[in-house]
Amino acid sequence: MPTPRDIAVLVGSLRRESLNRKAAKTLIEIAPNGLQLEIVEIGALALYNADREDDAPREWTLFRERITRADAVLFVTPEYNRGVPGVLKNAIDVGSRPHGRNRFDGKPGGVVSVSPGAIGGFGANHHLRQSLVFLNVPVLQQPEAYIGGAGKLFDDAGKMTNASTREFLGKFLDAYAAWVEKIAPVTR
Ligand SMILES: Cc1cc2nc3c(=O)[nH]c(=O)nc-3n(C[C@H](O)[C@H](O)[C@H](O)COP(=O)(O)O)c2cc1C
Repeated sequence: MPTPRDIAVLVGSLRRESLNRKAAKTLIEIAPNGLQLEIVEIGALALYNADREDDAPREWTLFRERITRADAVLFVTPEYNRGVPGVLKNAIDVGSRPHGRNRFDGKPGGVVSVSPGAIGGFGANHHLRQSLVFLNVPVLQQPEAYIGGAGKLFDDAGKMTNASTREFLGKFLDAYAAWVEKIAPVTR
């Protein structure tokens, strides 16, 4: 059986009861056999400061190495003030530097935005895509994944109980798996 593709999942919320983390865990649970999803933690990354590159924080180095190893990156993000939360932007900034060593370069990308609001984090989803263009991350176009009304999708244990959203996320992952193979086919 072929080795599953290594997908680094970046979640843009640090909240214990984060709806985005619950959605990311649902994606992990329902991922097709060809994809191995892992949440890469970003909460301990020091705020990006180029002055620190000469003696880079260990967390930056480990994060950069983890992104380098990944076959692809999947972002699951809330919307903060119609944009990307600072914690996720910071992780992107850390992974993209120092200049000329963008660890995201060419990795197939996917974006899922999750919000209790009605428009499912549309603003953050597209704000994020703006950075991903610059970082040369080719992002899956369709299906778009704006998960709205997310406060009602999970039970008390954090399990996604809404069948149609689970089904939609399954279709999203199938398309994403095909996207990963298209952009970064296995060469072994
Ligand atoms: C600083 C801040 C700004 C927010 N701005 C938005 C927003 O622009 N659009 C939106 O739909 N929700 C907004 N929210 C509400 C978040 O969608 C909500 O807190 C959500 O649960 C955060 O995701 P999480 O559950 O994964 O932590 C904001 C929340 C915070 C803390």
